[in-house]
Amino acid sequence: MDWKRKDLIGLEDLKKEEIETILEVANSFKDVSARSVKKVPALRGKTIVNLFFEPSTRTRTSFELAAKRLSADVLSFDVSSSSVSKGETIVDTAKNIEAMKVDCFIVRHSISGAPEIISMNVSASVINAGDGCHEHPTQALLDLFTVKEKFGEIKGLKISIIGDILHSRVARSNIWGFKKLGGEVCVCGPPPLIPKGIENLGVKVTYNLDEAIENTDIVYLLRLQRERQKENFLPSLKEYSFLYGLDEKKYEKLKKKTFIMHPGPMNRGIEIYSDVAEKDKSLILEQVTNGIAVRMAVLYLTIGRKI
Ligand code: CP
Repeated sequence: MDWKRKDLIGLEDLKKEEIETILEVANSFKDVSARSVKKVPALRGKTIVNLFFEPSTRTRTSFELAAKRLSADVLSFDVSSSSVSKGETIVDTAKNIEAMKVDCFIVRHSISGAPEIISMNVSASVINAGDGCHEHPTQALLDLFTVKEKFGEIKGLKISIIGDILHSRVARSNIWGFKKLGGEVCVCGPPPLIPKGIENLGVKVTYNLDEAIENTDIVYLLRLQRERQKENFLPSLKEYSFLYGLDEKKYEKLKKKTFIMHPGPMNRGIEIYSDVAEKDKSLILEQVTNGIAVRMAVLYLTIGRKI
């Protein structure tokens, strides 16, 4: 399909066909990273700026490598040593960098909506790399890609998302993505960490881990986001890991072809036990590998065909 969007803010906005297009283009880019010369000229002459106002290991590195493998010039802007620390707004920061003729901003921010605010004020493309508790679209796209690789298609699959749903932008993007491609999504966690009314998104809710993992195809574990919890949602981490952490005993109950996923960073010993993260059913590092191809696809579709 002909790609018309300037930005990628969330999967809520995307049509099923648009998600499928990104996954198809990602598939065509996947082998670039397996070559001895990991580069194609698709974005030669384009300039991409990583604007990360929150820490990141995977997303920032993955976007940088994706851009470089497409031959773009990439600048990873260091917010901590910039004029943001002197009170410059995110919009002024973006407009000043845009004045240096850049083509695309990759934005991560702790405030939901920050990438959209930037996109309304610049002509360059804006890709959301995770905003507050809102969305993390490229994480969900790489998750969809990884699941599609394993099962062929998403339609009819059962996906159980476990943990801190309330604060999770990954959960929100994945709910939109899996539902649009025909998956059945169940969310599970302690009641204070399940947002009220989430059933309205067409997901099943359970507070019981055994129920969530029984007969599911994907167990998607989320990080407990203690930095976003403004009040005490849980009596103790020990209780959380006892009730909702995936340990060896619970792992053994999974059916033969169930896979485990996690967006990272993992809290080992809390939502996932160390031994389990390394098991055969774990797709955690495959997710990271696939992130490059998916981000190459998003960059290519967004800015690749503009002159
Ligand atoms: N999955 C994810 O967003 O990881 P980072 O915070 O390391 O980018």
